[in-house]
Amino acid sequence: MVAKRPVLLAGNWKMYHGPEAARDFLCRLGEAVQSTPLIGAALARHSLSLAFFPPAVSLHVFQENRDTLPFLKYGTQNVHWEKEGAFTGEISVPMLREMSCHYSIIGHSERRHLFGENDFIVERKVRACISGGITPVLCVGETLEEREKGHTADIVERQFIAALENVSPEEAKTSLVVAYEPVWAIGTGKTARDEDAQEVCCHIRRLAVLRFGEETAAALPVLYGGSVKPGNIRGLLEQADIDGALVGGASLHVESCLELIKGALETLA
Ligand code: PGA
Repeated sequence: MVAKRPVLLAGNWKMYHGPEAARDFLCRLGEAVQSTPLIGAALARHSLSLAFFPPAVSLHVFQENRDTLPFLKYGTQNVHWEKEGAFTGEISVPMLREMSCHYSIIGHSERRHLFGENDFIVERKVRACISGGITPVLCVGETLEEREKGHTADIVERQFIAALENVSPEEAKTSLVVAYEPVWAIGTGKTARDEDAQEVCCHIRRLAVLRFGEETAAALPVLYGGSVKPGNIRGLLEQADIDGALVGGASLHVESCLELIKGALETLA
């Protein structure tokens, strides 16, 4: 039998929470975790893991809190594929390492649609992350129009295969997270139905079997993202192939984060 994969709750803060708000958030989150033994216990036995993706200007607040909040992982919402150079406005993988980051989100639909990132760019970023010691959280997902035309599986497959073209099974096993984020569900309040999200996450795991083999695919964290909230997280996490959530709006406030964590803990019981 395959061991149960840990639950990963990842908060994508997008362009919210500068350093002051981040400091206040972490202070209150730390207090809440300390006073809730159930959460502390799940984090200690690694059945639950928490990660946040603040704007880059707030990363140092997470770095400063590494000793007080050792369970907290963090990363960026984007990264450039080159190590350094004349790329105004960009940051690189070695810079992320210097900030003690664990992850970077790659290929979020807002990057793809608002900033013109295509499969080719996403592939370079994934490769730069993995070779530089940062775990990419690769986002894939279809638009509403693509879903309505019945193209969801094909779109997800194309994005998955293109992004991971140069990743070995060994690398995928130790340093990869995939997030299924249907574009029509992001920031809209419309969540995918549990069974629809499961169907696509199962498809992603099948693609991982073909690409990397059974063992790596069985261990691969596959998240769902798109209007995840305290009221719907439980049903999503109960699905066999959904190992966590990438959460935007509901990750911005400590109270809703705690509700999300509690919902996740119920599925671990
Ligand atoms: P949302 O965002 O939870 O606000 O829909 C999710 C995401 O963009 O990752």
